[in-house]
Amino acid sequence: MGIDHPLMELRRVSKSFGRQRVLDEVDLRVERGKNTVIIGRSGTGKSVLLKHIVGLLRPDRGEVWFEGQRIDNLRERAWVPIRQQISFVFQLNALFDSMTVLENVAFPMMENATGRIDRPKIRKLATRCLELVGLAGFDKKRPAELSGGEKKRVAIARAIAMDPAPKVILYDEPTAGLDPQRSDVINKLIREMQREVHVTGIVVTHDMKCTSDVGDRVLMLYGGRFVVDGTPEEVLQAQEPHVRRFVRGIAEPGDVLAFTAE
Ligand SMILES: Nc1ncnc2c1ncn2[C@@H]1O[C@H](COP(=O)(O)OP(=O)(O)OP(=O)(O)O)[C@@H](O)[C@H]1O
Ligand SMILES: [Mg+2]
Repeated sequence: MGIDHPLMELRRVSKSFGRQRVLDEVDLRVERGKNTVIIGRSGTGKSVLLKHIVGLLRPDRGEVWFEGQRIDNLRERAWVPIRQQISFVFQLNALFDSMTVLENVAFPMMENATGRIDRPKIRKLATRCLELVGLAGFDKKRPAELSGGEKKRVAIARAIAMDPAPKVILYDEPTAGLDPQRSDVINKLIREMQREVHVTGIVVTHDMKCTSDVGDRVLMLYGGRFVVDGTPEEVLQAQEPHVRRFVRGIAEPGDVLAFTAE
């Protein structure tokens, strides 16, 4: 198998919930080593799209491919080796409050261990991942004792704590709810993961600073499809009206009418 195929690919993926069509024949080819950023207003299906990549949702129509293998039609058990290569940093972190920070980071490795669990090795790798995100010495704390930015860093440490390291990390709104400086830490961390750990990032966000800082390529989801695809600079300059308004933070005409008409 050559490496000319993209790392990950969506082919004409459609997904509806009842009568609401969220994804409408979406095509996406994710290039190895580059960070792909998906922007779009709230409720456009960004999280839904990410969930198709790890099999948390299945498409109604279309196909999902990873490393030259079709994965959307796999049975649950066949997903295990795929999920060992793709990490997901959830929008709400999904840390376990009853566990320490170190236990949280080690958790997926304990869960995925096949055969004998090598605790010292797992502990060492989890500690190293915490160092990598700048949280050395935080091992014994609990998530409830951390700030929002620290929690996000724990979630990223957990995402990279795999042996071997994951090929892809999906970041769902990595800077949501963080102040500009803490956001900057996360953006730099995402770049560092790309450079140092060689992970390909797929980042979902509505934060334009995050988009420019971490993105090599940016796509905007609107009406179930991508309406722009380019570098961060190109997207900032794009003339397509929905894209222009989104990157400048200007309401869509309908949004304002809805309450000024009252
Ligand atoms: N499991 C589900 N069942 C029914 N509807 C769903 C489900 N998941 C998502 N939706 C709907 O699909 C649409 C897209 O949801 P999604 O979570 O992908 O939005 P988003 O772009 O990630 O928004 P945000 O920026 O607010 O996180 C929403 O209208 C949501 O209500
Ligand atoms: Mg979302």
